[in-house]
Amino acid sequence: MKILLIEDEKIMRVTLQDAIRKKGYEVVSCETGAEGLEQFKRENFDVVVTDLKLPKISGMEVLKTVRETNNDTYVILMTAYGTVNSAVEALKIGAYDYLTKPFSHDELLLTLKKIEEHLNLVQENIRLKKEIQSSKIKTFIGNSPAAKKIFEIVETVADSDHTVLIQGESGTGKEVIANLLHYTSGRKNQPFIKVSCAALSESLLESELFGHVKGAFTGAIKDKKGRFERANGGTIFLDDVDDMPMSMQVKLLRVLQEKEIERVGGSKVIPIDVRVVCATKVDLQQKIKTGSFREDLYYRLNVIPIHIPPLRERKEDIPLLAEHFVKKHGVAKQIHSISPEAINIMSQYDWPGNVRELENVIERMIALSKEKIIGEKELPDYLHRQTSRENDFINWHYLEDHFLPLDKLTSRFEENLLRWALEKAGFNQTHAAELLGIRRSTLRSKLEKYDLISVGKQMNESEV
Ligand SMILES: Nc1ncnc2c1ncn2[C@@H]1O[C@H](COP(=O)(O)OP(=O)(O)OP(=O)(O)O)[C@@H](O)[C@H]1O
Ligand SMILES: [Mg+2]
Repeated sequence: MKILLIEDEKIMRVTLQDAIRKKGYEVVSCETGAEGLEQFKRENFDVVVTDLKLPKISGMEVLKTVRETNNDTYVILMTAYGTVNSAVEALKIGAYDYLTKPFSHDELLLTLKKIEEHLNLVQENIRLKKEIQSSKIKTFIGNSPAAKKIFEIVETVADSDHTVLIQGESGTGKEVIANLLHYTSGRKNQPFIKVSCAALSESLLESELFGHVKGAFTGAIKDKKGRFERANGGTIFLDDVDDMPMSMQVKLLRVLQEKEIERVGGSKVIPIDVRVVCATKVDLQQKIKTGSFREDLYYRLNVIPIHIPPLRERKEDIPLLAEHFVKKHGVAKQIHSISPEAINIMSQYDWPGNVRELENVIERMIALSKEKIIGEKELPDYLHRQTSRENDFINWHYLEDHFLPLDKLTSRFEENLLRWALEKAGFNQTHAAELLGIRRSTLRSKLEKYDLISVGKQMNESEV
């Protein structure tokens, strides 16, 4: 802690300076107010200890100048008996404390100690705030051309207020990007509020987004702020925006155009300053075609489009991501690396669950590992299986988006398997049946079932 001492009386100045220095504080002492202010302009001080009565420039003027130039510096005034009124006046202007002469050195040192403790708390508070903030920032790892392009867009638009629409399959990192957009923008010290449009029913969504007034509906027992209001000054992240019901889409469009909201059941118009970032797993243009998404809203949202390709289309990112997750999850077990063989197998796999699946696999491998490095041994079986399979009948990506009941799925699989066997056997029915481990008659009835007789014909001809 650094202290500026201003005292015109020499003995007082010297003894105080010594006492302060003995306590381990840095101290600069001056004889006049002018000299003191000169020092104050040149250097940073945590505390100014000044006599009230000084020739020419008084302690009061010193205090005023300090308050005008720097709001963090603490000022302690030393006053003679009988000038207490002006000391009280000084507190009003913003002095931290005053000491009435004569006072013991301990009195001053105690006041300084209190300030020191307070400063430490302030520092700690700043540090913790920074720490919390940096723990909120997620990093988007990747060095593929696609990832680089995404970084570039984020960097360019983060500080603007343009609406961003992020599109990508599940687990590709849409939320990571939304997060990055907020925490690298000028709005980073304001709230980042997420709304899962898919998780909320239509009626709930409206009151969640815009709030409601008491009595607006049964259960609205008091006024409630909506997420738009809570996000004021910051960013709102509308996740799965494609799931928003049509009626809400109209309302959202109006809010984006007018930049103001009305709480459900309320009549007051509330202006809002919110940056909107949206995410969708599906192609919104497709939804427009089928009439379940408004075209006008789409253009409002899609000012800056960011497309995150699935991991299988940017496999160059796999090694870097894998290493990142090993470092992230391996700390407790002191696992810091992954074998090149494991990376190799991972790079051949298609990752239908994208980066989320990769992260989960690494976490599991770390949990299973008995060594300081994770490798092939810990890889889940299905990863080995897919990479060693020559023909992948199951299109996992397709399945993700077009879920079918098990019987339909099995039929589809069986049909594909039959086609594959036919081709593999060079359209020889007997060989195809052998390949599948079934009787030829069974094969024939299955071909009939799946209307594959024409393929069978081809087969019969080639058999002749
Ligand atoms: N490029 C990346 N770098 C680091 N971590 C990533 C990256 N992409 C995704 N992740 C991690 O993968 C997980 C899934 O990411 P995120 O939640 O952002 O995906 P999403 O696209 O929003 O998925 P969903 O559509 O299912 O909500 C998170 O744990 C996230 O930290
Ligand atoms: Mg998400």
